[in-house]
Amino acid sequence: MITFDEKNRMFKLDTKNTTYSIAVVDEEGFAGHVYYGRRISDGALHTLRINENPFVPSVNNRDRSSFLDSFPTEFAGNNVGDYREGAIAIKDVNGGEAVSFFYEGYEITDKKPILPGLPSSFAGKGRTETLILRLKDDAAGLKAELYYTLFADIDIITRSVSIINCGDAPVKLTRIMSLCLDMEAEDYELMTLHGSWARERAIDVRPIGYGRTNVGSARGETSHQEHPFLGLVSPRCAQDNGEVYGFNFIYSGNFLAQVEKNQFDSLRVTMGINPEYFEFEIKPGENFYAPEAVMTYSDRGLSAMTQNFHDFFREHIIRSPYKDKPRPVLINNWEATYFDFNTDKLLDIAREAAKSGIEMLVMDDGWFGHRNDDNTSLGDWFVNESKINGGLRHLVDEVNALGLKFGIWLEPEMISKDSEAYKAHPDYCIKVKGRTPAPSRNQYVMDLSRPEVVDFVYDQVKKVLSSANIEYVKWDMNRQLCDLGSIYLDSDHQGELSHRYVLAVYEMQERLLSDFPNLLLENCSGGGARFDGGMLYYSPQIWCSDDTDAVERLMIQEGTALVYPVSAMGAHVSDCPNHTVGRVTPFETRGRVALCGTFGYELDITKISEEDRAAIPGQIEKYHKYNSLISTGDYYRLASYSKNRFYDAYMIVSKDKNEAIMTFVQVLGRPNHHSRLLKLSGLDPEKEYMVEFENDEKSNVRAHGDTLMNAGLLVRNMWGDFASTLVYIHSV
Ligand code: GLA
Repeated sequence: MITFDEKNRMFKLDTKNTTYSIAVVDEEGFAGHVYYGRRISDGALHTLRINENPFVPSVNNRDRSSFLDSFPTEFAGNNVGDYREGAIAIKDVNGGEAVSFFYEGYEITDKKPILPGLPSSFAGKGRTETLILRLKDDAAGLKAELYYTLFADIDIITRSVSIINCGDAPVKLTRIMSLCLDMEAEDYELMTLHGSWARERAIDVRPIGYGRTNVGSARGETSHQEHPFLGLVSPRCAQDNGEVYGFNFIYSGNFLAQVEKNQFDSLRVTMGINPEYFEFEIKPGENFYAPEAVMTYSDRGLSAMTQNFHDFFREHIIRSPYKDKPRPVLINNWEATYFDFNTDKLLDIAREAAKSGIEMLVMDDGWFGHRNDDNTSLGDWFVNESKINGGLRHLVDEVNALGLKFGIWLEPEMISKDSEAYKAHPDYCIKVKGRTPAPSRNQYVMDLSRPEVVDFVYDQVKKVLSSANIEYVKWDMNRQLCDLGSIYLDSDHQGELSHRYVLAVYEMQERLLSDFPNLLLENCSGGGARFDGGMLYYSPQIWCSDDTDAVERLMIQEGTALVYPVSAMGAHVSDCPNHTVGRVTPFETRGRVALCGTFGYELDITKISEEDRAAIPGQIEKYHKYNSLISTGDYYRLASYSKNRFYDAYMIVSKDKNEAIMTFVQVLGRPNHHSRLLKLSGLDPEKEYMVEFENDEKSNVRAHGDTLMNAGLLVRNMWGDFASTLVYIHSV
């Protein structure tokens, strides 16, 4: 609920368990941030420091700059006396950089504002309420609209900003943060996700020191390396107790997520498009919309934060027709064949896959132009008939005749030097005039700031998808951006390239979904470098990592699931020794780990052992049995291999608490070791449950939820490395 107390000029935004309050103070109308945290009865205006030194400017204008430099503000300006990092910075026609906003008015609406050209959350089956806080800077000729949308039942507030140029000269934005939050949380720690190729999204926690601490990307995409998520966690915050603030940014390009601890031990959290490689001109009468940021607060530990994020992404970001439908169990030929395949080979795989109950064949990289390795043909989106003999339509029809759907891999944003596309349009790639751009994986990036390049790429994609019954696309992006330059943009607008690039990706994917509304889209970027809320608006699932090793996946999937729903995590069973780490893990453990993801296979089913092949139908049966629980339930982390270096355990509990599943992986065998006593989570204390261990009936138990959560459950010490069990818990 959003209320406005006119007398005190205070806005109070209440979700089920949280309160966020804003007050307008002083004659000038500073929009001050008062409180964000556990739900409270009043707006807590008395906690806003306006009656102590430094006073508000109307009381003592002499101390104006010290007021500005400490006042907790909703939308910090730049170059006007607040020396903490601002939410906005500009360059006006005179080269001036000062900008500072004051209150103008507000609107409260139950219509969720959409952000043109950008992913934006929607009410879905629920209802939302939005506060639009209107601010102005008369000197700069700018207005700002700050949007705060409440998803009250799940304790989520989203924020974004629109900047309107009301003056008569263009203004350049040089920084725009979608979220600016001043708060007092000096003893909190900072939680972030970091990684690398094949090691995406590992959880990192560190103390918050003075000054600015940030994570970000200037790589043109969210990146393997850092992630648009920040957690502020209270001392000793655990899975089921303690306080945590979670922040996420719904954007797929360069981002900055920062905490600044100032001279008075206050924190300022900012999140937005990375100012590095960013400028954007706003012409008179035009708007700039900043992407949406998401905030949640929990006083019930990390699990509640995770569950709020999961519900938010599942219900208010993901739009796909596959949102609530089981995804077909796919087999992808990448790790099976790499570039070495043809129609016969694919049909052999499809034939064997059909026998095992697999539902879709995905043809990965190498089917187009004259591509037999990663040096050629990106940009030539027509089938290589010498490999796909008989043509694409023939292959798809044959696969369909075997009872399988067909999916295809594409990398539309890229161009190889050795391609027809490059020969015809050497100027279509991103490069700085007079410099040779650096190839990466021997490829260049299409200059998507140019509308004709977008059309050139999209028209080819559309043609391919219209040529056969293709029901799934894996949209890849296998390099990051550098040598930023566009011949389409004049010298004054080169700084717009990175953001325009992201907008063009969104535009192409929107076109794709409107032309092929039933398509199942899976985004991917050299594994999981563009796993973010922006891409989830277009695709219900994203390839999590090129590392398919079951043990590595425990850590990658733990970090990913801290924020994103399990239903979005592309996860496959692959062959051993694993192609990334050379590890040999049991087939059943690989299956159990992939089950808490989208589930599929990435191996040559014609070549694996008879024993592994024989296990596939059982794994698929389990996928069908548990998928609805796994993709809609609440996620609880019980133990973390990345912390204890021994075993991993997580549970997913259905919303009605009638059933749950627990995955337990004992990574390394230990001699002479006791069973583990695991305390379960999320069950109904009063319900009685049957606990069934896969392959270990002797461990089965019948007990009430309170017993299982407080006294726990014994999980036997297992024989061998990488052993695992799956436990199904249902009420009786
Ligand atoms: C990326 C993807 C892989 C595969 C290759 C193909 O690395 O993450 O799954 O599609 O590209 O080149």
